[in-house]
Amino acid sequence: MLVLIGYLLGSISFSYIAGRLFGKMDIREHGSKNAGATNVLRNVGVKAFIFASVLDILKGVAAVQLAKYFYPEQDLLIVLTAGAAIIGHNWPLFFGFKGGKGIATTVGVLLGLNAPAALIVMVTMAIIVYITRYVSLASLVGTALLPILIYYFVGANIYYMLFAFIVAIMAWYKHRANIGRLIKGIESKIGEKK
Ligand code: G3P
Repeated sequence: MLVLIGYLLGSISFSYIAGRLFGKMDIREHGSKNAGATNVLRNVGVKAFIFASVLDILKGVAAVQLAKYFYPEQDLLIVLTAGAAIIGHNWPLFFGFKGGKGIATTVGVLLGLNAPAALIVMVTMAIIVYITRYVSLASLVGTALLPILIYYFVGANIYYMLFAFIVAIMAWYKHRANIGRLIKGIESKIGEKK
């Protein structure tokens, strides 16, 4: 039941909603065609970006907090609910299974699991974006840090470690087109019109 709630929560694509609300558009038909906060910033604007990123993060926090509230000792259930929220964001039930790449929701999930670990990811990502202006690169590095951060800050148990690796692999898989563009040097930079 909780895992299903996690998935349904994740399925509320606030980036899609931001596109509709602030830009009267289907964000999945513009820019990178990703229903994510970066693409919202690129094509809609700062207000919509704040709306999308904050709420996409919060749904990740909410999924973890919900599982922790009802089953504080059940690590497996906590990671399954958290994972379901990220899967919901990436493949949302409410929006034809066409969602985002899961980064904001993953940050939210990490925030729910351990705030200092999430802070490290956010600061690292912010520095990479500041230097390179590639959000995708920041997302790739941020998710690559997950196993090590989860190991040190959350718990070295098998459920958390599997969770960290699966979430990182899922994020990299979702960014495969970005990786191709980064290698070719044609990835769009934030603040640059496509
Ligand atoms: O969080 C998504 C970001 O890493 C890349 O987004 O739109 O540039 O593919 P986008």
